[in-house]
Amino acid sequence: MEKIIINGGKRLIGEVEISGAKNAALPILAASILTEGWNTFSNVPNLRDVETIKKLLIGLGVKVEEEKDVRINAAGLNNYEAPYDLVKTMRASVLVLGPLLARLKKAKVALPGGCAIGARPINLHLNGLAALGAKVDLKHGYVEAEAKSLKGATIFFDIPTVTGTENLMMAATLADGVTTLENAACEPEVVDLANVLKKMGADIRGEGTEVITIEGVKELKSTNHTIIPDRIEAGTFMVAAGITAGDIKVRNCNIAHMDAVFSKLTEAGIKLTYENDGVRVIGTKPIRSIDIKTLPYPGFPTDMQAQMMVLMCFANGTSIISETVFENRFMHVSELRRMGADIRIEGRSAIVKGVSGLNGAPVMATDLRASASLILAGLASEGKTEISRIYHIDRGYERIVEKLSNLGADIKRVRD
Ligand code: EPZ
Repeated sequence: MEKIIINGGKRLIGEVEISGAKNAALPILAASILTEGWNTFSNVPNLRDVETIKKLLIGLGVKVEEEKDVRINAAGLNNYEAPYDLVKTMRASVLVLGPLLARLKKAKVALPGGCAIGARPINLHLNGLAALGAKVDLKHGYVEAEAKSLKGATIFFDIPTVTGTENLMMAATLADGVTTLENAACEPEVVDLANVLKKMGADIRGEGTEVITIEGVKELKSTNHTIIPDRIEAGTFMVAAGITAGDIKVRNCNIAHMDAVFSKLTEAGIKLTYENDGVRVIGTKPIRSIDIKTLPYPGFPTDMQAQMMVLMCFANGTSIISETVFENRFMHVSELRRMGADIRIEGRSAIVKGVSGLNGAPVMATDLRASASLILAGLASEGKTEISRIYHIDRGYERIVEKLSNLGADIKRVRD
């Protein structure tokens, strides 16, 4: 097992290049199942989760080649089963369900188990596929879906679900007739997937709004696409600047995707100035305490909640952070407390009282964004922080130790 060791207290100064968005790359690679030619995707981040979906595609008979870009050809698609041993490592594997059903009219995908941040059921995905005419059964821990043909339908999501919207959008591209997704997710990653599907020849309108309309077509053709930058990685580095009173130029981020994060960072007293090739972020003292409520896009992203909580540990007052998207996304709180944070959980809210500083300690990562928050806490704490179970961080942050070290952090990865 590996650990990350940080000696905190260094101001982070310099420039960082944001990688491609994990949560756009995963559905976009899955969408290649819908075509029979070579798709070429650029700016695909080198992450564990991306490796997992590539393995999954290869297991389905899909060719995957990689030099600088990732090239995928699903002409040889000859298997409709996504096995448990892969799905259990990444719940986003469920994203092959919709495209498999659309292309082969059959899919068998292991049910993703729960995860640290919540039960994360996929009932809305399955109800939607059934609405399109699929027969959906749950057998021995697998979802088995098949359909003679898929027919367009109107699907209302009780909750805006990101991968649910993506799964149904992909399934509907080859269905007969018109599908309307209501109360759909509006995330930029959903829009990036829609842009790829439209390049493939899909007829989609309304992506990025709560109502998406898809008119089925006969077939889709392979295409090429550059993945959008990762707004959560960008936000994480902006908090790193704020928490170390640093001065970081965050390059290659799409500011149009980050209104809620910009607004909250500014409210906390961090200086953000847009320059032509990115955003300059200057941390100033004192950090102002603010209240945050996570919501579906364009609300404040739940994937930035843990990172903002660490910033609030250093603020000059009390902040209330409410997590409305997942029911158990405060796993980082107990670890932060071990570093001296003053945080109390009341229902779905965390009451964070700013303290004069945190102190380094051995801590354990529990999920992807919690690990990011522990790294941020280590950067700003006095003394040494050792973070174990860092395989979580490698799922969603490309070369994070190298990127932080280039900004002046005293951080290294060691074999435990
Ligand atoms: C996506 O997960 C992201 N993952 C998550 O990012 C992100 O936190 C989440 O959206 C919310 O923005 C990917 O895109 C690969 P949801 P997803 O379906 O699609 C409930 C990260 O750190 N729900 O939008 O799984 C669900 O339990 C990860 O990069 C149902 O009840 O999330 C949750 O409470 C973590 N039934 C809410 O909806 C369903 O069928 C939103 O979940 C589906 C979802």
